[in-house]
Amino acid sequence: MENNEKNIVLTGFMGTGKTTLGRIISEKTGRSFFDTDDMVEGYCHMNIREIFAICGEEYFREVERKMISQVSMNNGCIIACGGGAVKYKENMDALSRNSTIVCLKADAKTIISRVGDDYGRPLIFGLSVNKVQKLLEEREPYYNMADLFVDTSCDTPEALSQKIIELCSI
Ligand code: S3P
Repeated sequence: MENNEKNIVLTGFMGTGKTTLGRIISEKTGRSFFDTDDMVEGYCHMNIREIFAICGEEYFREVERKMISQVSMNNGCIIACGGGAVKYKENMDALSRNSTIVCLKADAKTIISRVGDDYGRPLIFGLSVNKVQKLLEEREPYYNMADLFVDTSCDTPEALSQKIIELCSI
């Protein structure tokens, strides 16, 4: 498949910049942007915190799978995935059919400073650096299945989005 037909999928832990960079890349390239968390919220008519609290994580993952299966049918889009989507083989299988998967990385301290007090992210809210570090290590094998890796700890969103555009040759 030609590069201009492939989707660019942004994966990575919470707070690594998937949504922020996805939006900028979409603006710069004119490609459509999808955020799977937004899609899940739209489908459930609830925000992520409410979905976890009322319906539970298992239900969230079920809807997330449904949304990823739908969004991965597109070509040439920018897709930001929820940070835990990579744990499910079905999601990776669907996405890898026609996408370049870019994993965004950041260290635990940076992640906490960005989203550690975000009430809307139930899986990280209030966690210590050690706990986030442990979660990062548990998820590392899944994140490492990506095609490309970009560390977002230091550079600006503008520079990082440009870097991803160049790396993906879009
Ligand atoms: C999750 C990440 C969140 C959201 C949900 C679960 C995870 O998305 O999908 O709270 O398991 O890492 P972001 O990575 O966009 O915060």
